[in-house]
Amino acid sequence: MTKSGGLDAVKTEAIDRLIEIFDNDPAAAAQAIKDYARRPNQDISLKTIAVGPVLLSVRDLIKTYKRGRQHLMVLDGVSLDIHEGEFVAITGASGSGKSTLLQLMGGLDKPTSGEVMYGDVNLAKLSDSKLSVFRQQTVGFVFQFFYLQPFLRLSRNLEVPGMFARTESKSRRTKVAELAEKVGLSDRLKHYPKELSGGQMQRAAIARALLNLPKIILADEPTGNLDTANGAAIIELFETIRRELGTTIVIVTHDPVIARRADREIRIRDGKVDA
Ligand SMILES: Nc1ncnc2c1ncn2[C@@H]1O[C@H](COP(=O)(O)OP(=O)(O)OP(=O)(O)O)[C@@H](O)[C@H]1O
Ligand SMILES: [Mg+2]
Repeated sequence: MTKSGGLDAVKTEAIDRLIEIFDNDPAAAAQAIKDYARRPNQDISLKTIAVGPVLLSVRDLIKTYKRGRQHLMVLDGVSLDIHEGEFVAITGASGSGKSTLLQLMGGLDKPTSGEVMYGDVNLAKLSDSKLSVFRQQTVGFVFQFFYLQPFLRLSRNLEVPGMFARTESKSRRTKVAELAEKVGLSDRLKHYPKELSGGQMQRAAIARALLNLPKIILADEPTGNLDTANGAAIIELFETIRRELGTTIVIVTHDPVIARRADREIRIRDGKVDA
């Protein structure tokens, strides 16, 4: 097949796919077209067009903090959908509300009003204990500063989410070994965090987030503390995880290069989605 024939075939397939998405979800199709228009020189990978059904739906999210008499409006009516298997970057200036949004999306905090829905489950309506089970089963969190337990060896650090979820210890250890292999840390399991490099610590934190096989990973500036090469390795790891496990990935980032590697960028400005 000639090069242009190959490209045409890919485009035809992409258009068919868009029509299919359009029938199910016009907003996602519109977004995919907008993203393509913004960076038409990129390879059109069908995997990178929002394909799966909606996993998580945010509606009219408002978050205010009260300080004395003052109300600080941090999120001012955010609505968005994240699809299964998507890789989404959330960007915006410092203080625009990105971390707050991510925490609400993962049920780490409750909104002042509005909804975070996973299917028909509204996080705001869950009791604290149900919310904690939901987080264990559905969400993996990754942060800029890793938060590994300094006094536990890596193997134990990776087991931590399984301990809370009360999984059987033998299967937990098998899982830890598999995940360490996936993130390239099999030979570091006996080490303590301080004996690891920054990139290795972040890979460990990602392995830990995967232990309960979450549907979604929410990562707040996961490369913020790393140099360019280590940051790129972390993004490649997320891409592998998405491809091999089908995990939906949402990352907050300041780095425009990383944002461009995502399927879609959602920009937050002054607590609103910047259209
Ligand atoms: N617990 C809190 N009490 C009061 N104000 C808060 C609280 N948490 C966050 N804020 C305020 O909410 C705003 C948004 O904070 P947030 O951490 O979501 O921003 P961000 O976009 O993640 O910024 P950065 O890029 O610097 O991490 C900021 O003005 C911050 O001061
Ligand atoms: Mg932040």
